[in-house]
Amino acid sequence: MARPHPVRLRRLRRTEAIRRAVRETRLDPAQFIWPLFVRSGEGFRQPIGSMPGVYQTSVDELLKDAQRAVDAKIGGILLFGIPDTKDDIGSSAWDPHGPVVEAVRAVKRAFPQLLVITDVCMCEYTSHGHCGVLTADGDVDNDATLLLLAKEAIAHAEAGADMVAPSDMMDHRIGHLREALDDEGYAHVPIMSYAAKYASAFYGPFREAAESTPTFGDRRSYQMDPANAREALREVRLDVEEGADILMVKPAGAYLDIIAAVKRETGLPLCAYQVSGEYSMIKAAAERGWIDGERAMMESLVAIARAGADLIITYFAIDAAAVLARRCTIPESATCCTIPGTT
Ligand code: PBG
Repeated sequence: MARPHPVRLRRLRRTEAIRRAVRETRLDPAQFIWPLFVRSGEGFRQPIGSMPGVYQTSVDELLKDAQRAVDAKIGGILLFGIPDTKDDIGSSAWDPHGPVVEAVRAVKRAFPQLLVITDVCMCEYTSHGHCGVLTADGDVDNDATLLLLAKEAIAHAEAGADMVAPSDMMDHRIGHLREALDDEGYAHVPIMSYAAKYASAFYGPFREAAESTPTFGDRRSYQMDPANAREALREVRLDVEEGADILMVKPAGAYLDIIAAVKRETGLPLCAYQVSGEYSMIKAAAERGWIDGERAMMESLVAIARAGADLIITYFAIDAAAVLARRCTIPESATCCTIPGTT
């Protein structure tokens, strides 16, 4: 009788000690970026129905979240603004007293060491909810929008933002923003480009959070077709050429192949955005007892890191950091921040 095959992969899965030793991907709270929604007012904290655990807050309340981000030692925060007034061209986006600008100033004053990134886009600020200004026939005017995005990015940089993250998907915005920032004395401010951003149903809950649902049509004339991968690499190459410092793929979970391809192709720092729908699906299923929410959270994050993301924008940032911290204090686990192996 033939001897059994000598290779037995189960040998390295027998105990948590072995599994931990051979684990290929580890998560660290420094990888997590936490998105926050800020608006005007005082003492304001309103839950977002479709995103349990996520809030719109005023700046004073936002400072409490910034404190949590510091305490959890996460990588940073990403700010989205909900303005008091919207108009055709989204002029609140560069208002020197707009919510994001005020928030950046307050957070940087209170926590100078905390990485503060701002979303640069028009959709929260335009009355029609599109990510740019419109032409007479209702199309989004690419080059006219670039001028407005530059004003917005400069307002954020002036307030002290550590990094700007344009999410509008206009062509040539990276080159245009780079030039505008450089001309205004912000050559040191990096641009994290939403390089491959897909027109995704997974953004549904975010549009309630950011109050940015388009009043007509959809975003398919500027965001990418979910069926396309080669096109993502064209988007990415162009952004690299134009001076992007960090690239982003968005959403994350359904686009792990794109994350892996961009990583392979560029070797640049890569971020992936685990978007609102990805978060809310896990939350909703866990609330019903259909999945173990904590394990699904950690598994979804480690999968994104395994695919090649260096940074992960996630609404789970604080909760996931807490899980990692807890694992650090388990006496029998000697090393820090391993990913969850067993239940
Ligand atoms: C705005 C923007 C969106 C998201 C981030 N920036 C929404 C959209 O493009 O419709 C989605 C984030 C999320 O779903 O968590 N341009």
